Amino acid sequence: MANGIADNLLLTTYLSAKSPVMVVPAMDLDMCRHPATLKNLDTLRSYNNLIVEPEVGELASGLLGKGRMPEPETILTHVKSLFQKQEQMKGKRVLLTLGPTCEKIDDVRFIGNFSSGKMGFALLEEFAARGATVTVVSGPVNEHFYSSNKYSSNKSQNIQIINVMSAEEMYASAVSRAEENDIIVCCAAVADFTPSEVHTGKLKRGEEPLVLKLQPTKDIAAEIGKRKKTGQLLVGFALESYREKENALAKMKKKNLDLIVLNSLQDEGAGFGGDTNKVTIIDAQGKCEEYPLMTKREVARNIIDKALLVKLSD
Ligand code: C5P
Repeated sequence: MANGIADNLLLTTYLSAKSPVMVVPAMDLDMCRHPATLKNLDTLRSYNNLIVEPEVGELASGLLGKGRMPEPETILTHVKSLFQKQEQMKGKRVLLTLGPTCEKIDDVRFIGNFSSGKMGFALLEEFAARGATVTVVSGPVNEHFYSSNKYSSNKSQNIQIINVMSAEEMYASAVSRAEENDIIVCCAAVADFTPSEVHTGKLKRGEEPLVLKLQPTKDIAAEIGKRKKTGQLLVGFALESYREKENALAKMKKKNLDLIVLNSLQDEGAGFGGDTNKVTIIDAQGKCEEYPLMTKREVARNIIDKALLVKLSD
């Protein structure tokens, strides 16, 4: 499964499956802790398969340790909870901003950033897996995300994707739609500044330095926060390089967020571009929960669990 080999019925079924896949590995303890097994399980996690961990107990070899297959009843509980999750957010509407924005300098150049959109797409997949109706306002992200129209053409998945380029377009698109949503997650890395004037055509190279005048963009999260109604939940992100928690808390207050997801620039494997992230989720009371490095899909699960918890305790 981890290597995409499809030479028997089970593996060919797996490779073509569109449904959620649950993996229940069971083996002897030394096999279970072998780096190859751990690596393969990590690979399967990164493909969004759900892993039910083996239990510790007596193994077929007579040895005692981790590797025992969970009891069928336990596996059934996991399957049931997966199906319950698919209904968990039925009827709920979610608005998600994601990706970078491009601020035009002239007709061929722009100011952008390194956001890949991966965290946002992980959130999209997790919200959709829980039955929510999701509207995504996406900045220009790598087109492989749209390959085979996985998202845009699949109406049954209740997903609508609106593509925008600039911070101004993202602002207009997201702010006008915010009101009709129960949960709004501002995951986009919106440019903070945009060129004051956009040159038509292509700016000519010259001997003199080129000075660009930049003006601040509008803060989408802050505007949605200002208009927030009771019952609506607003989640933001903060990428900080120093005094991380303090800055994140200040941001949460300023933008009237209910939760803020803090990624630190100091953490390896966290932030832009990668498949993993290491975050701290902070609530409006300032309570922090720090998570270890995990896949962006797992991070998405934790963010949504936390958001639902806050919403339920309202
Ligand atoms: O202020 P800062 O850019 O660090 O805040 C990050 C959070 O605010 C993110 O949730 C981001 O999506 C949101 N944001 C926004 N509009 C902006 C700038 C940031 O929605 N113009």
